[in-house]
Amino acid sequence: MKSRRDFLKRISAAALAVGTAPFFVPPLSWTLPYPEQQTLDLPGEDGMIVRSSRFFDLETPVEYLNTWLTPVPHFFVRNHTHEPSELNAADWKLSVGGEVEKSLTLTLAELATLESHSVVNTLECAGNGRGLQRPQVPGIQWGKGAVSTARFSGPRLRDVLQRAGVKSTDKHVMFRGLDEVPGKVPPFIRSIPIEKALDPDTLIATHMNGAPLTKHHGFPARALVPGWIGAASIKWLTEIKVLPSEFAGNFMSPGYRFPNQPPKPGDAVKPEDTHVITGLNVKSVISGPLDGSSLKAGKIAVHGAAWAGEADIVKVEVSTDNGATWMVATLGHEQAHFAWRLWAYEWKAKSGEYTLLSRATDSQGRTQPATPVWNPSGYLYNAIDQVKVNVA
Ligand code: MTE
Repeated sequence: MKSRRDFLKRISAAALAVGTAPFFVPPLSWTLPYPEQQTLDLPGEDGMIVRSSRFFDLETPVEYLNTWLTPVPHFFVRNHTHEPSELNAADWKLSVGGEVEKSLTLTLAELATLESHSVVNTLECAGNGRGLQRPQVPGIQWGKGAVSTARFSGPRLRDVLQRAGVKSTDKHVMFRGLDEVPGKVPPFIRSIPIEKALDPDTLIATHMNGAPLTKHHGFPARALVPGWIGAASIKWLTEIKVLPSEFAGNFMSPGYRFPNQPPKPGDAVKPEDTHVITGLNVKSVISGPLDGSSLKAGKIAVHGAAWAGEADIVKVEVSTDNGATWMVATLGHEQAHFAWRLWAYEWKAKSGEYTLLSRATDSQGRTQPATPVWNPSGYLYNAIDQVKVNVA
């Protein structure tokens, strides 16, 4: 394990050295200096790929995407700025205000008196796979692993909003985190439509896989907006505000928007020709065998995970001949509406060079495309996955 971990650290250090270092998406109206040095010895993050240690962005190696619930130390981390330095459960408060009958301030103990609900959710960063977009786009060059799955638990957002009294004119619900934002960086604030906020599966999550949230994942409470891009699920939640219209802030516009029409790769897109990204795409990844591996002829399990945001996975197909023929993979028995399905296909491999592909289809009839929709911020990459292997 040690040598593999060192290997991964060397790979990510090398990637940083050759210029795939984290930098920020141009649509955001601010820039930050790149980290000069990477601290690669991050305690408790066994084998994770460091995409930024300044703001702490960790990618899950693809071979870890092989359990239905991702252990918390292997769950990817995405921070836009600094995590709050001081977080004390006893002092933490959540304010609920805006267009409500009665503003509230809740302590963690008060939140804990509300009925807890659990949702197994696959959380994926909108920028997952950005590093695979061609032509390349700026932003953190995520590979395939800015995605993980956990059982999130906590009170329903709906129950808190109903306590405060929602009005008929309410249209959006805004979340603010406790991030420490340097200089002119705008705070990480986003909003979701009231219908999604009142969905019984939208939570104020305090727990992940049965334990209190860790700091990296939003301790002591985060929004959990299942099936939607990770950016909707604000960590270190401190304020909820009900609004008559969508929150107008940097992370709603120009950030986290997708072109209404697929642009020509490399073309600029006007802000008025974009919309806010909500639900995730249909997607699959191969978590084994790994790209570039040398295998022995015989039975080889091709396996991975597939997810579709608010839709369900209905089929995963595997090709062992670069797409000439496709075979249906077996889906794992563990399933939940917003969670990925593990899948596997038993391949009887003879010696040769192979390109293995995986392609998922969902309950909305969406299928992974051969080519992703290129867009200037590299969001929602979901091309058919591929690995190349050699069988001896
Ligand atoms: N919440 C706050 N307060 N600050 C952030 O930077 N990042 C968002 C979201 N919530 C972010 C946040 C993004 S872009 C993603 S993908 C998810 O958190 C990642 O959640 P995780 O770090 O628990 O995996």
